[in-house]
Amino acid sequence: MTAEFDALRTHFPALRTRDDGRVPAYLDSACMSLVPQEVLDAMAEYYRDYPGCAGRSLHRFAEEVSHRFEAARETFAKFLEAPSPAGIVFVRNSTEAINVVGQGISWKRGDRVLVSDQEHNSNLILWQRLGPERGVRLDILRLRDDGTFDGDALETALAKGVRLVSLFHTSNLDGRSLPVREIAERAHDHGAQVLIDGCQAAPHRPIHLERDGIDFYAISAHKMLGPTGTGVLAGRPEALAELRPLVAGGETVEWSTLTEHKLRPPPYRFEAGLQNYAGVLGAAVGVDFLRRAGLEEVEAHDRALNARVTRGLEGESRIRRLGPADPANRPSVFAFAIDGVDPHDAALFLDEGHGVMVRSGRHCVHSWYAERSLDGNVRASFYLYTNTEDADRLLEGVRELLARVPSGSTGTSAATPARGGRSAPSRRRAAGSSRAAARSARPRGTTARGRAASGARSG
Ligand SMILES: Cc1ncc(COP(=O)(O)O)c(C=O)c1O
Repeated sequence: MTAEFDALRTHFPALRTRDDGRVPAYLDSACMSLVPQEVLDAMAEYYRDYPGCAGRSLHRFAEEVSHRFEAARETFAKFLEAPSPAGIVFVRNSTEAINVVGQGISWKRGDRVLVSDQEHNSNLILWQRLGPERGVRLDILRLRDDGTFDGDALETALAKGVRLVSLFHTSNLDGRSLPVREIAERAHDHGAQVLIDGCQAAPHRPIHLERDGIDFYAISAHKMLGPTGTGVLAGRPEALAELRPLVAGGETVEWSTLTEHKLRPPPYRFEAGLQNYAGVLGAAVGVDFLRRAGLEEVEAHDRALNARVTRGLEGESRIRRLGPADPANRPSVFAFAIDGVDPHDAALFLDEGHGVMVRSGRHCVHSWYAERSLDGNVRASFYLYTNTEDADRLLEGVRELLARVPSGSTGTSAATPARGGRSAPSRRRAAGSSRAAARSARPRGTTARGRAASGARSG
């Protein structure tokens, strides 16, 4: 880790010494990132200094927030290299952004949508629903396990006459990225539009929406140093103008009578009702923070940490890594299963024994696991505040777990087929499925805090 990136850690209040005497090793940034003090300050400042509603009242609070809200739009437009701030729509998260597109297109029966076989539920369930509701047909692009992209498979799929290609940019499951520029070119050649789920890419690498010809791009601010409940749908204004707004109401119209109304142009027609001003202003400060750090530098930093972890576990025959072999091709994510250890048990062990926070389960990509009859895995994800000590604590924790749980244990793992293709184990069930392993694995001197039984989870 460079000294500059190490110095950034002091900006993140969550990275402070906790009751157990340790600073958390937070390796779950793919779920949500930590938030720097600057973002917290920006949100507090809004409520403290100019708590008005943008674009409505004319007093000074409202003027101030209106100005800053539009400045935030420009910040995101620049950050994403979008064609224009008019193509930046503020939404709650990328799920909502995808829904604004999917529910807003004037579908005709038989229109086709193409998604990959590795999409987050946010980019799958909606399309499944549009089948029975609007007659939309869902096509699946199978991705290669080694992470290389099969352009011919895309061509074959496009040749069927696809209306919308909707793919992830970077996968939350294994950290691979898709060549979105090539995808957009090929799709446009076949007359299809392109929606990219960018919520795992935009936090970690420079994005060039205009250059790459992306029609729609979805992001969540809470994965890129911003607060929860804020996201962006970035689109070509002309493409946005063709969508029917998902939500109707105040601020979306130029005028209304008792029987009619005229919609405002994008982005305003999509931002119905009073907006999350504090969140958006905080999100923009998060983006400024990222820009100052440098996106290329962030990506290189992720890559170095991932290489360290990958190397560290290379010789471990019981570790099954997911995705491309080279960490350079999955910089922000190290996803793995441990033979004989349930992923939820592993996550609890790492947290309780080593203060290492990872995600376990199916990461909202249930379909990928269902296709393979697999049960889930562990995911460590890296970001600009992650340091080598965090990576080493993960390595230590995993090695201790391997040493404590004998290789013949019967826990479930991504390398062990799920029994009868059942659905995701709840947290309670997962802990139970390899209870003996978990008990023997719990680090000395720690007691379970009962979290395994604290609630069912599907993720
Ligand atoms: C690739 C991907 N797409 C979509 C989402 C959904 O994001 P959100 O819950 O912020 O809408 C996530 C969240 O983890 C994700 O990783």
